[in-house]
Amino acid sequence: MTDAPALHIVDLTKTYAQGKRAVPALNKVSLDVPPGECLAIMGASGSGKSTLLHLCAALDRFDSGELVVAGQNLAQLSDSQLTEFRRKTVGIVFQHFNLIPSLTVRENIALPALLQGKIDDALNARIDALLEKLAIAHRGGHRPDALSGGEQQRAAIARALLLRPPVLFADEPTGNLDSTNAQRFWDLLRQAVGDEHVTVVMVTHEPLAAMQADRVVVLRDGHIAGEFQAQENSNASQLAARYQTMAH
Ligand SMILES: Nc1ncnc2c1ncn2[C@@H]1O[C@H](COP(=O)(O)OP(=O)(O)OP(=O)(O)O)[C@@H](O)[C@H]1O
Ligand SMILES: [Mg+2]
Repeated sequence: MTDAPALHIVDLTKTYAQGKRAVPALNKVSLDVPPGECLAIMGASGSGKSTLLHLCAALDRFDSGELVVAGQNLAQLSDSQLTEFRRKTVGIVFQHFNLIPSLTVRENIALPALLQGKIDDALNARIDALLEKLAIAHRGGHRPDALSGGEQQRAAIARALLLRPPVLFADEPTGNLDSTNAQRFWDLLRQAVGDEHVTVVMVTHEPLAAMQADRVVVLRDGHIAGEFQAQENSNASQLAARYQTMAH
């Protein structure tokens, strides 16, 4: 057992180039996330939330700073090591789901295992269980474009959880879900955090979703404007009010 943080972020900086213009997205963000924590990242549109998630999930390179995820120093990994890292160490629920249109829902969910050549009976049973728990078992044979936004989101969640990654990144994971399905997601997540000690970093606009986290970190214009423990708030509107004072 180690007490090393699951995420160790120091002065992380990222600027996008758009034509000749530089668009600063993250400016010296420093943050430690202990293993097993469920962290919510909130912030206005354009504050850098997705950028932070993408860098931590090794989907993009950063300009400067230090970024260690599950013990791996991402700046020191080659492209092929980063691919391996994305496959084995992290699960990602994208803001826009990123399901593959030509594959069925079941095939989309199975993809992380197929890429590692390790589909077996146990994994097939896990896919069945995830489909069941997320209430999309009847949709397994359909292609994503035949599904509602909420069903696609649940398929993306199942795909991210399939291989029990030590770190789960989720960008607005309940943004398209009604309250019953959001609850199904939280139940699954709590199970993953409780049984498997998964570390969760979730971007959300929703105070109700942030209430489910342990800690809330607020981004403003690419830097951390403040943080608080979700449980310090007695309800979602109190959390929303606290967030508003930091976000603007
Ligand atoms: N690929 C890109 N090229 C150029 N600029 C980008 C790119 N991706 C993001 N940006 C810019 O970086 C800043 C942060 O964007 P980001 O997507 O991280 O915001 P966000 O907090 O996730 O917003 P939202 O809540 O709308 O999803 C914005 O100004 C955005 O326009
Ligand atoms: Mg975003």
